Amino acid sequence: MTIIRSYIVGSGSYLPERCLTNAELAEQIDTTDEWIQSRTGIRQRHIAADGQPTSDLATRAARRAMDHAGVTADDIDLIIVATATPDLTFPATAAQVQANLGVSKGAAFDVQAVCTGFVYALAVADNFVRLGQSQGALVIGAETFSRILDWSDRGTCVLFGDGAGAVVLQPGVGEGTSADRGILSTHLHADGNHTKMLYVDGGPSTNQQVGQLRMEGREVFKHAVVNLAQAVDEALEANGLAKEDIDWLVPHQANRRIIDATARKLGMTDERVVITIDRHANTSAASIPLALAEATGDGRIKRGDMVLLEAMGGGFTWGSAMVRW
Ligand code: UT7
Repeated sequence: MTIIRSYIVGSGSYLPERCLTNAELAEQIDTTDEWIQSRTGIRQRHIAADGQPTSDLATRAARRAMDHAGVTADDIDLIIVATATPDLTFPATAAQVQANLGVSKGAAFDVQAVCTGFVYALAVADNFVRLGQSQGALVIGAETFSRILDWSDRGTCVLFGDGAGAVVLQPGVGEGTSADRGILSTHLHADGNHTKMLYVDGGPSTNQQVGQLRMEGREVFKHAVVNLAQAVDEALEANGLAKEDIDWLVPHQANRRIIDATARKLGMTDERVVITIDRHANTSAASIPLALAEATGDGRIKRGDMVLLEAMGGGFTWGSAMVRW
């Protein structure tokens, strides 16, 4: 039986020029390069320029993904931006990206699932494509977390960075088995009981402020390790795959120790895990598409490879996507 699958036909990313090292941070707050690297794996992060909004990062990443896919604005009929740092409360950042790109048809909206945002957005776009409602979808993760950090809180401000990544989806054919190319499965989860462990303390309907990020890091860490282990098992089981079938793990980049725990569970060595946290820090919804663009761009991920994406973030939200490249 022939079915429609969503093929990922292009990827691209963008990082702002300004790079902030741990050493520079250590001049401003009570921290050290040694502490940040040993606890998180982060060496540096990129910071958006003054006046550079999330939509600008998103647009640059989208253009590169479209070039890589060999498509033009006329081929795009759906734009989903995963972001927790939109340009404005409304309209959606995706609408601004649509205008910037000169796309004039179809839908454009944002998805807000914080660090799991890209996996959520990919799942939504996959459903549109498989139902025949989109012939060309842009899925973008873009963030300017530098704008919502409390730069006096050393427990959080050292962890995050700005950036954007994007992929283009198009319909393709499959047989309905894990031998197919394209997105094979997505699994999304949320548990809203843990809001206070990771949230931003502002919003239009509470205090009319943008707010700043608050996190109980140690508690989030424990939940992340457990939830991601479950997400990985679920993705393997749903596709009838064994751990050895996974060629590449492309995880959300929150903490090197969390990534290592998930890789250990899969029995995967460092060479098969795409790591960007050392250079990008945690870019929330942008981290997975940034990592994907890097590993497809440098030839590590090749056509036919089995790629597992996973993420966990505020909400809590978490989830996975299994993709044959
Ligand atoms: O992407 C969304 C999901 N987010 C995550 O998954 C993040 C999960 N959490 C983490 O990655 C880790 O919990 C952190 C990296 C945030 C913190 O690492 P930790 O090993 O859990 O450290 P901790 O919070 O337990 O703090 C240990 C010590 C504390 O000092 P005392 O109380 O032991 O004296 C902190 O005050 O480290 C201190 N500390 C710092 N020291 C130097 C906290 N931040 C810093 C810092 N520099 N930047």
